[in-house]
Amino acid sequence: MVMRDLDAVLALEVRAYSHPWTRGNFVDSLAAGYPAEVLHVLDAGQVSLAGYFVALLGVDELHLLNITVAPDWQGLGLGSSLLRAVQDLGRSRRLAQLLLEVRASNQRARSLYGRFGFAEIGVRSGYYPAALGREDAVVMRLGLQAADPG
Ligand SMILES: CC(C)(COP(=O)(O)OP(=O)(O)OC[C@H]1O[C@@H](n2cnc3c(N)ncnc32)[C@H](O)[C@@H]1OP(=O)(O)O)[C@@H](O)C(=O)NCCC(=O)NCCS
Repeated sequence: MVMRDLDAVLALEVRAYSHPWTRGNFVDSLAAGYPAEVLHVLDAGQVSLAGYFVALLGVDELHLLNITVAPDWQGLGLGSSLLRAVQDLGRSRRLAQLLLEVRASNQRARSLYGRFGFAEIGVRSGYYPAALGREDAVVMRLGLQAADPG
């Protein structure tokens, strides 16, 4: 992901979330050098943005901050492809673990992470804004090295 991707990224972001990231969130992430990738698809001769991720590199971990697939491209395996790319990134940098937060109500994302072997390791109470007040985040962890698959 580079700055010139952001118009398309923002257009997708606001369609995918009730509480989307702002342009400033993406600009700050890119300016800080966070790993971020976009996924384009070729559909009826047109190239369009179908998904992306943004992650934060820690000392020994990769923290997935945003993973999104366009609503009309969901359920076709693209989210799994993006998640594999995140995993590969962490492994290539020899990081120990991949961490993320997910809304407690986001069953689709939670089941995707569960299939990848993520374990639920905690809850951040009231972490996200929600339509009615706040919503908890479930914290999930995936070991990236063969000796620590869990
Ligand atoms: C969560 C998200 C990234 C998953 O992306 P996706 O592209 O839909 O993910 P996949 O297609 O790889 O897998 C999702 C489902 O499609 C199914 N699927 C995968 N490939 C498929 C195929 N070829 N045909 C039919 N179904 C398929 C999977 O089995 C899975 O089923 P499930 O509903 O039982 O979990 C996407 O739904 C999204 O962007 N949601 C909004 C933003 C969001 O919530 N992001 C995560 C924040 S933590």
